[in-house]
Amino acid sequence: MLKYLTGNPECELLPMVSGDCRDVASLHALRFPLPWGQGEFASLLSQDSVFGFVMRQTNAWAGKPLVGFVLSREAAGEGEILTIAVSEKVGRLGLGWRLMQAALNETRLRGAEAMFLEVDSANSPAIALYRKLGFDKVGERPAYYTAQDGTRSTALVMRCNLG
Ligand SMILES: CC(C)(COP(=O)(O)OP(=O)(O)OC[C@H]1O[C@@H](n2cnc3c(N)ncnc32)[C@H](O)[C@@H]1OP(=O)(O)O)[C@@H](O)C(=O)NCCC(=O)NCCS
Repeated sequence: MLKYLTGNPECELLPMVSGDCRDVASLHALRFPLPWGQGEFASLLSQDSVFGFVMRQTNAWAGKPLVGFVLSREAAGEGEILTIAVSEKVGRLGLGWRLMQAALNETRLRGAEAMFLEVDSANSPAIALYRKLGFDKVGERPAYYTAQDGTRSTALVMRCNLG
């Protein structure tokens, strides 16, 4: 309890397994307006080309709560970030960075030469993270996302060289 009250969360990074999908879907629902279900995550993760990592807190009150995850795909020499989220409670502590590094490393090990992702042009925290990791904008998809109120926004397509 003392550790929880006085220090930063201590976390471990692990490969995502099917047993994580319920927690992953719960965190996704907290961080995105259009949540993906537990079954969608399980179905994606069952594909050979798809892999992910989870961050679990090891000094919480009880258990090892999920505080972040990333899901990626590698196929035909190209990687893609499918989704990433970190709990707001532990934002800006470097967990998103560590999750992205794990996904980039695994994608490189699987033989890809580049990683791609799409991000809402209004999502400045995520864009700042991606730029810091070496991603550059390579395209735009106008009116790609639709918010719950019907507002449309542009997706930026970003690319990072893994060579
Ligand atoms: C984007 C997200 C994953 C970042 O996770 P995080 O653990 O808070 O990020 P980190 O602490 O690893 O930050 C790494 C760098 O990213 C940038 N960054 C992260 N959050 C930022 C913020 N709120 N404002 C500005 N820059 C930010 C900074 O450059 C930061 O480095 P610094 O702290 O040394 O300045 C997290 O905000 C999130 O889950 N957002 C909601 C879901 C989402 O938008 N996912 C991306 C969809 S494409």
